Amino acid sequence: MSGDWLSAPLPEERGALSEIDTSVAHVARVYDYWLGGKDNFAPDRAAAEAAMREDPNVVEGVRGNRAFLARAVRYLVAQAGIRQFLDIGTGIPAADNTHEVAQDAAPQTRVVYVDNDPIVLAHARALLTSGAEGATAYLDQDLRNVTDIVRAAGATLDFSQPVAVILIGILHCIPDEDDPAGIVGRLMASVPGGSYLAISHPANDLNDPGVRRLASRLNELMPMKLRFRSRDEVAVFFDGLELVEPGLVRVPEWRPDRDTDVTNPAALWGGVARKN
Ligand SMILES: C[S@@+](CC[C@H](N)C(=O)[O-])C[C@H]1O[C@@H](n2cnc3c(N)ncnc32)[C@H](O)[C@@H]1O
Repeated sequence: MSGDWLSAPLPEERGALSEIDTSVAHVARVYDYWLGGKDNFAPDRAAAEAAMREDPNVVEGVRGNRAFLARAVRYLVAQAGIRQFLDIGTGIPAADNTHEVAQDAAPQTRVVYVDNDPIVLAHARALLTSGAEGATAYLDQDLRNVTDIVRAAGATLDFSQPVAVILIGILHCIPDEDDPAGIVGRLMASVPGGSYLAISHPANDLNDPGVRRLASRLNELMPMKLRFRSRDEVAVFFDGLELVEPGLVRVPEWRPDRDTDVTNPAALWGGVARKN
């Protein structure tokens, strides 16, 4: 899917393409570069490379974050019985998108993807490849607009039944003044008991000066300002929910499939919690 989007855009994708500002680096495209994708431009690559010089572990770390996403989705489907996902901050499609992992285990799973970046909208068709028994939908929306997201997602998801809210690598894009904890609280108030929340969040307290230098460098090079947070600050997002084992940990340490997962250097906190 990466790299072929300029060839034959659909009408709504053409609209999205015209909105993409390629003159400055953007978080979705920088992340795409780190993941080995081709949907990035010179300023994205320059920012990504500058960040890699500050923290040479970043590429392996973002792979560790994607692996956490897949393990969390697999756990939610196979062990928690979840069949509905609201994945906000989807990113440019990559390997193991949420619906692919979920429908592999339970084909009837329904997934609504949400992102506010036009380049992700331009790729939406790669996310709309649900098997016949399930469903996927894409919303071009900002995480801050919880009411609008829940209303539109209601066309695909049944909000009287449990939903897993997926916020993987997005809350650091929400500054403190926009009240990220309030946003998460409103999202979780929209879903019934038995629902789940999965979060991963870049850390500023893992004692790695490279990670802090990486954050400063990206904030110099991107108009969007990133806010890395401590474990205690990330824990606040789970207030009122019950964290499943092993709790809030460095993402490679969350239910690793194999010993080598744990050695991944990802400097992100991650956890999955249940609304009782
Ligand atoms: C670092 S990427 C993470 C992608 C994916 N969740 C993953 O972990 O592989 C962050 C994504 O969040 C999106 N994003 C950032 N702020 C957002 C907001 N306020 N509303 C919706 N999406 C947002 C970006 O466009 C980008 O696609």
